[in-house]
Formats: sequence, structure tokens, C-alpha cells
Amino acid sequence: MLNAHAVEAALNAIGAKSANFSIRHDGIIAAAEQKFPIIWSFAASIQEYPGNLPVLGETPANDSDVQDSLLILGGIPAQAVIGGISVLTDLNPWVVSIHLISSMAIICLAVLLLWRIYVEPRPAVGGPAAVLAWATFAAAWLVLYVGTVVTGAGPHAGDPNAPRNGLSALQFSQLHADLVCLFIGLTIGLLVLAYTFKAPTAVRRAIWVLFAVELSQGAIGWVQYFTHLPIVLVMFHMLGAALTAAAVTWVLLAVTRPPNDGSVTVE
Ligand code: HEM
Repeated sequence: MLNAHAVEAALNAIGAKSANFSIRHDGIIAAAEQKFPIIWSFAASIQEYPGNLPVLGETPANDSDVQDSLLILGGIPAQAVIGGISVLTDLNPWVVSIHLISSMAIICLAVLLLWRIYVEPRPAVGGPAAVLAWATFAAAWLVLYVGTVVTGAGPHAGDPNAPRNGLSALQFSQLHADLVCLFIGLTIGLLVLAYTFKAPTAVRRAIWVLFAVELSQGAIGWVQYFTHLPIVLVMFHMLGAALTAAAVTWVLLAVTRPPNDGSVTVE
């Protein structure tokens, strides 16, 4: 049964959390209003939406949090503009490609914001693991971009009447798959380093998650390629691309800013 002290303690805890929440929330709002009035008016129009506030944690907002939030927020209307341009250009595959890549960039920024809010902020570390993590991140982006080029060359570029980019879908699928091999190879390298240098559990877990996402996504890629791109698999491949963008960003942050769980860091 609840006693009076327990209730009082719980109410105090809730009060403290709410106070911290409002400090952080008010900080972001004030900065947003002041620095980016146009984007702010867009934000104000959706502020009734209940899901837009709880991104905020318990520490006061800093400039980087505000910038990240505003970039994500600004990315959405920017995507509306790119989407409009892609329609005006009759679904030009190069413009559609920018549209998808911009979505991936927004996902990476959202992961960065989550990291800042929920993971203890730590100074960046250098060393071979950091270089490898950046190389893995770059390989992921090459895979993502070349994937959109394959789409632009293939049957799903916009609609049946949309122009294609004129490149060979076969050759670019091959390049896409080769880059995937590089991406997976770099991830395996990261795993080896993480175990060799006894990286924190959170770092190892992040790399395993990325590895699992890559293998699943690679499997979907091959199956869709050999079964002539059934639409259901193409949709799962797009979902996998978004998960890849999120997982590789998390790995980059975990390796270069390892959370402290008491074990040795990968340096
Ligand atoms: C980590 C692994 C992979 C990632 C992150 C990835 C990502 C992507 C992305 C972002 C696209 C463009 C989607 C779009 O523009 O709508 C794409 C398309 C494509 N990918 Fe992958 N991919 C991966 C693995 C593979 C593999 C191993 C193959 C095997 C050949 C493959 C075959 C394809 C094909 C055929 C397309 C064009 C689909 C279409 O025309 O609708 N992918 N991929």
C-alpha cells in the first residue's frame, strides 16, 4: 500500500522532472523563435501535435541541440520543396534521388539528437577505431546514394512514364552490391577492433545491430534483384535503407563518443 512519504517523493520526482523538462523546452523554444522565425512559424502550426515535445530530456538545451532540432524541422518543409520540384520535373530520377537521400540525412540528424539527449555526452576519441567508424559511415552513404541511382535506372523510378537516368541498371546494381561488400567488410573490421580492445558493451551492441541490419538488407537486396523487383520487397528494401542510416549513425557516435560503462574504450 502507498504511504504518504512515498506519494510525496513520487510527486517531488515528477515535479523535478517537469521543471527540468520545461527549462530545456523553454530554452529550445526561445532560441528557435529568435533565430529562425520562418521555421518557427511552421513549428507553431504543428505544436498541438502531442508527439512533438517529448524529444526533450532532463538537461538544459544547448546550442547544438537547438541547431539539430531546427535542421530536422527545416528538413521537412525542404523535403516538401524537393518533392514539388521532382513533380515539376516529371519525376526526374536525379531529383528523386536527392529526395530520398535528404530523408536519410534527416534520419541521421534525428539519431544524433537522440544520442545527445539520452546518452551521456562524452568527449570524442580518435584513433583507428574512429577512422574505421568514419570510413564505415562513408561507405554506407555511398551504398545509399548508388542505390538511388540503381532505382533511377530501373523500373521503379517514379511511375511507368517517368524518365530514367539512362544508366545500366545491371552495372549499377553490381556497383551497389560491391559497395555493400565494402560496407560489411568495414563493419566486421569494427567488430574485430571492438572485441580486441574490449570496447564498452554499448559499442559492441551498436555494431552488432548494424551488422544484423546490413545482412538483412543485403539479403532483401539480392532476393529482389533475382525476383525482378517485386514491389513488396522494394518497400522493405527502402525501410532497410532507413534502418541502415539510423544504425550506422548510432555506431559512428558510439565508437567516436563511447558511453562509459566501466570498460576500456576503443582508442
Ligand atoms: C546494406 C545494404 C543495402 C542498402 C543500405 C541498400 C540501399 C538501397 C537504397 C537506398 C536504394 C534506393 C531506394 C530508392 O531509391 O527507392 C536501393 C535500391 C536497390 N538496391 Fe539496395 N541496398 C543494400 C543492399 C543491396 C544488395 C546486396 C542488392 C543486390 C543486388 C541491392 C539491390 C538493389 C536494387 C536492385 C535496387 C533498385 C530497386 C528498384 O529499382 O526499385 N541492394 N538500395
